[in-house]
Amino acid sequence: MRIDPIRLPASHDLPPFVTRRMDEHYIDRVERLLGGEHMHVWSPPGPGALMLAGNDYLCISAEPALVRAQVRSLERAAGQALMSSVFLQAGSAQHRLEEKFAGYLRSEDAVLAQSGWAANVGLLQSLAQPGIPVYLDMLAHASLWEGVQSAQARGVPFLHNQADHLARQVARHGPGVIVIDALYSTNGSVAPLCEVVGIAERSGSILVVDESHSLGTHGPEGAGLVVGLGLEERVHFRTASLAKAFAGRAGLLTCSSRFKGYFLSASRPAIFSSCLLDHELAWFDAAIDLVRGADARRAALRATTAQVRARLAQLGYCIGDGTEQIVALEAGPEPQTLALRKALEARGIYGAVFCAPATAKNRALVRLTLNAGLGQREIDQLVAACADMREEVDLENWSSSVRGRRVA
Ligand SMILES: Cc1ncc(COP(=O)(O)O)c(C=O)c1O
Repeated sequence: MRIDPIRLPASHDLPPFVTRRMDEHYIDRVERLLGGEHMHVWSPPGPGALMLAGNDYLCISAEPALVRAQVRSLERAAGQALMSSVFLQAGSAQHRLEEKFAGYLRSEDAVLAQSGWAANVGLLQSLAQPGIPVYLDMLAHASLWEGVQSAQARGVPFLHNQADHLARQVARHGPGVIVIDALYSTNGSVAPLCEVVGIAERSGSILVVDESHSLGTHGPEGAGLVVGLGLEERVHFRTASLAKAFAGRAGLLTCSSRFKGYFLSASRPAIFSSCLLDHELAWFDAAIDLVRGADARRAALRATTAQVRARLAQLGYCIGDGTEQIVALEAGPEPQTLALRKALEARGIYGAVFCAPATAKNRALVRLTLNAGLGQREIDQLVAACADMREEVDLENWSSSVRGRRVA
């Protein structure tokens, strides 16, 4: 039997203030600029394809011990109350896990959120307010900017990783909240943490550091860059998405116990959205133990990163903005970036396209995220693909290549 598609009645037609924006997407961008193709729709990966689009840096997402912990919890959890974390009582599974995270991260307390997005938005909402300047690195994650916006605070950007520009901005606008990522998600660069801590302390500003891409991969037992530098007592708040090295769906922030009590009555995602489920908590409970003991995986990731970065630089790729496991191939305009993505895919390499609004309009890129499971064969496959496609993708005229020549 053939089922006819449902046609919405004319009353569902959207008004021009929406259709204009939809046309900008479908007609101006997809049809005219990209010839009918979509930046993020990749061709199906064939056998032997190398997936470098995910953030499971330590390759734990299929780890049997974690899967078993989650399955056991699912089997037990029938009848779990679905509610906001505001209603959780002392001693709940979530509170016990928060204590475990706090111990691991050398912080007085910690709060789990439904995602890194929810942690960042909720935290900035709880700190910022109209009239208080919030200084954000220009490449700080979108969720941090969103938090500032929803707090109706004043966002004051500073140039990426330029502590002297931050200091000038703070001197001009006064103390407030300083917000950075420890390791930046678009280019794999590391923040000048010690300098930023100094600026925060001298100016009497609060410091928030997003450790999403360094938690699990950097620092002692993977506790992050802040702990690695011994700065845990000098950074007011650390946040993280647990959808990276922890390979689950949640976010967290570190704070004092007193702040936690306030946060749970100030953060709108904490109040107005339901809390994590027991099997999600079970995953992270097991994952902390695994990640803490994963020094060999961290060492493998570091070695792979060093090798890939050195070989791509030798081939003429301008990737020197970053140093860590996130490698950005920045072609620039969207059509060139689409061509780059397709050239990589034709050679069995799958990365993630980052374009506006994730990057500035003409600084689109394909992000390759390396992981601890890549062997020499896969590294060689990636490097060979990058060597082979240089002319086809017009590497010489990429925005990053032009910038690199200007700096040299
Ligand atoms: C630096 C950073 N912070 C926060 C987030 C948001 O995390 P989640 O995906 O858990 O909402 C991300 C994810 O893309 C991120 O890269």
